[in-house]
Amino acid sequence: MARLILPCKSSCLARTSLLGLISSAPVKRSVCSVKSISGYRCFSALEATHRRNYRFPHSSPYRATEASRRVICSVATEPFPKRVEESEMDAPKEIFLKDYKSPDYYFDTVDLRFSLGEEKTIVASKITVFPRVEGSSAPLVLNGVDQKLISIKVDGKELKEGDYHLDSRHLTLQSPPQGKFTLEIDTEIQPQNNTSLEGLYKSSGNFCTQCEAEGFRKITFYQDRPDIMAKYTCRIEADKLLYPVLLSNGNLIEQGTLEGGKHYAVWEDPFKKPCYLFALVAGQLESRDDTFVTRSGRKVALRIWTPAEDVPKTAHAMYSLKAAMKWDEDVFGLEYDLDLFNVVAVPDFNMGAMENKSLNIFNSKLVLASPETASDADYAAILGVIGHEYFHNWTGNRVTCRDWFQLSLKEGLTVFRDQEFSSDMGSRTVKRIADVSKLRNYQFPQDAGPMAHPVRPHSYIKMDNFYTVTVYEKGAEVVRMYKTLLGTQGFRKGMDLYFKRHDGQAVTCEDFFAAMKDANGADFANFLQWYSQAGTPVVKVTSSYNAEAHTFSLKFSQEVPPTPGQLVKEPMFIPVAVGLLDSSGKDMPLSSVYHDGTLQSVASISQPVLSTVLRVTKKEEEFVFCDIFERPIPSLLRGYSAPVRLESDLSDNDLFFLLAHDSDEFNRWESGQVLARKLMLSLVADFQQSKPLTLNPKFVQGLKSILCDTSLDKEFIAKAITLPGEGEIMDMMEVADPDAVHAVRTFIRKELASQLKSEFLSTVENNRSSEEYVFDHPNMARRALKNTALAYLGSLEDSEMTELALHEYKTATNMTDQFAALSAISQNPGKTRDDVLADFYTKWQHNYLVVNKWFALQAMSNIPGNVENVRKLLNHPAFDLRNPNKVYSLIGGFCGSPVNFHAKDGSGYKFLGEIVLQLDKLNPQVASRMVSAFSRWRRFDESRQTLAKQQLETIMSANGLSENVFEIASKSLA
Ligand code: TRP
Ligand code: ZN
Repeated sequence: MARLILPCKSSCLARTSLLGLISSAPVKRSVCSVKSISGYRCFSALEATHRRNYRFPHSSPYRATEASRRVICSVATEPFPKRVEESEMDAPKEIFLKDYKSPDYYFDTVDLRFSLGEEKTIVASKITVFPRVEGSSAPLVLNGVDQKLISIKVDGKELKEGDYHLDSRHLTLQSPPQGKFTLEIDTEIQPQNNTSLEGLYKSSGNFCTQCEAEGFRKITFYQDRPDIMAKYTCRIEADKLLYPVLLSNGNLIEQGTLEGGKHYAVWEDPFKKPCYLFALVAGQLESRDDTFVTRSGRKVALRIWTPAEDVPKTAHAMYSLKAAMKWDEDVFGLEYDLDLFNVVAVPDFNMGAMENKSLNIFNSKLVLASPETASDADYAAILGVIGHEYFHNWTGNRVTCRDWFQLSLKEGLTVFRDQEFSSDMGSRTVKRIADVSKLRNYQFPQDAGPMAHPVRPHSYIKMDNFYTVTVYEKGAEVVRMYKTLLGTQGFRKGMDLYFKRHDGQAVTCEDFFAAMKDANGADFANFLQWYSQAGTPVVKVTSSYNAEAHTFSLKFSQEVPPTPGQLVKEPMFIPVAVGLLDSSGKDMPLSSVYHDGTLQSVASISQPVLSTVLRVTKKEEEFVFCDIFERPIPSLLRGYSAPVRLESDLSDNDLFFLLAHDSDEFNRWESGQVLARKLMLSLVADFQQSKPLTLNPKFVQGLKSILCDTSLDKEFIAKAITLPGEGEIMDMMEVADPDAVHAVRTFIRKELASQLKSEFLSTVENNRSSEEYVFDHPNMARRALKNTALAYLGSLEDSEMTELALHEYKTATNMTDQFAALSAISQNPGKTRDDVLADFYTKWQHNYLVVNKWFALQAMSNIPGNVENVRKLLNHPAFDLRNPNKVYSLIGGFCGSPVNFHAKDGSGYKFLGEIVLQLDKLNPQVASRMVSAFSRWRRFDESRQTLAKQQLETIMSANGLSENVFEIASKSLA
């Protein structure tokens, strides 16, 4: 409410009514007469033009328009003013890493008291404040949005209006007392009207919070930045019947009943934390309880909270949690530090999950699983994300980020830790393949587009937009490179030193780098470039063998492509793991490498060295292996030792050889992918020139030998016979052609299916199981292989194969097999497809998580003209634009079909454009994720470019656009 006063602070109402704003009865909005632009229009035509010029908000033309902004002087409204109006008040502002300043004041303790209600929630906060520099007289600036200020006291004395300043986003004490003081602030918020799902909101009738990155400022006025770390207590008061469970961080220290059917609970968190880790949950929940005894003997109570009917579906999450706790002790020596660990599952959540201290809050799709309702992929995701959030307790919570630019300090590191955890629980190679595929399909395109940013961004408008695959996945690759360079023990030494130095602190990426370096006395050259340079480096390798000198040379050159704001790049430090195969396919023992004028021994006395890590640091550089007695085939970038695009001079024969023999299983898969990428690109060229398509028999043979190799891991086989994604291929083209790429991928799939039909059929036959569902690697691998074969067979539009898939559908005893059969069937339009989809819905209509799979499957369909079907599904009774999971399934799913989203007639773009504007009014974070689908529009042909650009421009000219969507849309157009 307060923020509505800003524009007219010098004219009407001014600040007189700050305390008067509190009113329980809804009062009509009064628009004062200073200036009024009809309706909800927020930007003047002039501004819209500036925005279309894609000027950045901090530039002067944009600012100049502030004066022309509409002024609303509102006394009170019901509900609170929405975000629609928020951006009317302040121009989006870009924030820069280089502007970081230490806070002038620190907070020591924070006591929060919540009185939760149906119409309003009162938040009372009491903070002990002290200046960073004794005797400082700097103003104290608190962040706060979407709340009514009720009262403010300093050292017990109520402040009068002249003692502070309130604008749409801040509460400023101009001259706070010198030295330590207490600050008490009472505010009113309306969680029941909060559809943004940040701050305090309601999900299925329960109260919950999401404070990262900057949601705490929607709960109470505070220095909402991670370098403010304080000890919290939290008292929650609520109706006892409606909200029997009251949770917050730390330990429960008091609870009791109150008059009027209410009760309360008091929680105390003994650890200092930034406010983004604060959490509160209140509602009708029940728990699965278990215990974990840490290796030092601390008994920890574990509780996973859900609505009563879902408690049976939390067994796998509990198993995952205990496995994660044990793993962190075994691998990193890290123990849990409290006596209680709570996990709460909520159906409405913008992201996957949140690591709030001792009270993790999860999107329910990442907690709830039963064999009948969740697929193997869901089980694996739950394991990984439960691990991820738990691991944050040390990497994120005990040691946190100084500012949000350092996000990868906790996220890259924690993703790396959860990847390692999942590897150790399943198959290392298969996990690595999955992670690298994700990087290639999602992060590479981001790094090559208008939203490209370094692992540590230099600036942002809305921090939420920087929870990206670059910060997370590329950030994890950066952490992995330390381990590749230092080895397991060296990496562990670095981690130990990091915790020893920084426990309880808010630090930077350099601090992590320094710990790794100092613990090992390591020379990391220009490794820090990985944090500051965006763009995927392209590494070219040429090889030559000298039969007389018995040397083998690898010449490297590297190039980092230009990205927005970074046109010239420095060379990077690229660790390249290499092995050399002899003609029988075995690794040659390596003795020494000549490089930079010196001969370095790589041999060890204890065992032959079969692989080594080359340190590529220059633009051009040569490494010469000595004592190589036959022409080797090099296996380069083993295990994908750096996040680069590798271009080598290996021939197809070399690649087939590596596919068959490489001891590095990752590179066996990779060789197959390189071959497939080459093949697909050349067929795309044929398709574009209307040449007939034919499939290279050697490729079919290569895949056949993998498919029939019983010595291989079954999930490895499934991955090795899966073609690179359409996005990956489009990403490699001069002008992306979704129709050609789709036609080619479909052609190869069908051709493989028909040529290897009997092999695929026996693969299905031999990998059925009538046994009970087990979540372990051998069983998941078996199902993955069987279902990959089934999908191939389903691509053959013949009735025999449809019958087979239908049979699999009917006899399936778990969701993995059932959904795989449904997907196989739904590749081809027709009555069978319609009937089975209808049957599936009828069966699962009461399970919203399964219904989301049903939405996604239809949305992702490549059947031409599917946009109409998706539009119909928007009106399906099970759909709801306010629930992020449903949006991700239906809208996100649709954008995942290149042929339909990029339909030539622009129907896909138009659809997304309309949805983004609707969504933005409800939930800017989710709208912003959706609008990102437009960001690579320049990669397409001119007519598609025109159509996509039109949609982006329409979005940009909309009234009251959120900063979230503004940032993505404007940068996309820039
Ligand atoms: N820190 C969370 C993680 O573990 C990410 C997250 C959850 C988040 N909810 C959010 C980030 C909302 C931004 C906004 O990765
Ligand atoms: Zn995280």
